[in-house]
Amino acid sequence: MNDWVIPQDWSGYSPEQHAMWDTLFSRQLEMLQDRATAAFMEGIDVLRMSKPGIPDFAELSQRLHNATGWTVVAVPGLIPDEVFFENLANRRFVAGRFIRSPEQIDYLQEPDVFHDVFGHVPLLVHPVFADYMQAYGQGGLRAMKFGSIHRLARLYWYTVEFGLIRDAHGLKLYGAGIVSSHGESLYALGSDVPSRLQFDLKRVMRTEYRIDAYQRNYFVIDSFDELLRQTLDTDFAPLYAELAGLADIEVDTILSSDRVLNRGTGSRTGP
Ligand code: PHE
Ligand code: CO
Repeated sequence: MNDWVIPQDWSGYSPEQHAMWDTLFSRQLEMLQDRATAAFMEGIDVLRMSKPGIPDFAELSQRLHNATGWTVVAVPGLIPDEVFFENLANRRFVAGRFIRSPEQIDYLQEPDVFHDVFGHVPLLVHPVFADYMQAYGQGGLRAMKFGSIHRLARLYWYTVEFGLIRDAHGLKLYGAGIVSSHGESLYALGSDVPSRLQFDLKRVMRTEYRIDAYQRNYFVIDSFDELLRQTLDTDFAPLYAELAGLADIEVDTILSSDRVLNRGTGSRTGP
């Protein structure tokens, strides 16, 4: 199968583009000091990501491969689901090569190289998270056969992109969509608007999400081990069948069955 991989063309970046990376990087690194989970900061260290400029995927992949066998490859923006899953299942993380323009510094619709590489790659150094991402890719290929990609996508959204974790130092960020966003890094831990709920696999797979606003719900895990164990040990096929008969849950609804760690000011009580 065509894997959609293209050359990163690292030498094609302009000095302004490298400078944009540096601006984003230093701003986020400071923001995340006491907000991101330790594993994320460790990944930044191990991968020597503080080296100035947009990382060269070849060099980054070498370090990452030594740690957990993952590599980072460039793709031209959005790719078909099957190709995305297939790459993950083979421990290849697909990343966009373009970087946002100065006008887009705080908001852009499509993931760029800063989101993809700064946001996602550090955690791939963590052996358990690395296994989770591969299992997710395999699970995606399987979900396609059941027509249930949208439910599995919610799991990705509320863990890989917008997950929170309770680690030894308290409530911390690990989702790539949060750690690569200046505004949402502050909001996810500090705002009283969103709710923070204990992670629950089935609940998450029923929960809608919005891609154009900060989250109204964050789901909190206790550890990557627990996340991996739960998702690996559960056969999703019967779960998909069961979920087909249940209504979706809106983003601002709290159920009586939820373990609410923190109730947001905007939330409503659901059916
Ligand atoms: N256990 C899941 C299944 O049966 C696969 C999976 C593992 C999905 C880990 C996501 C994360 O389909
Ligand atoms: Co992402």
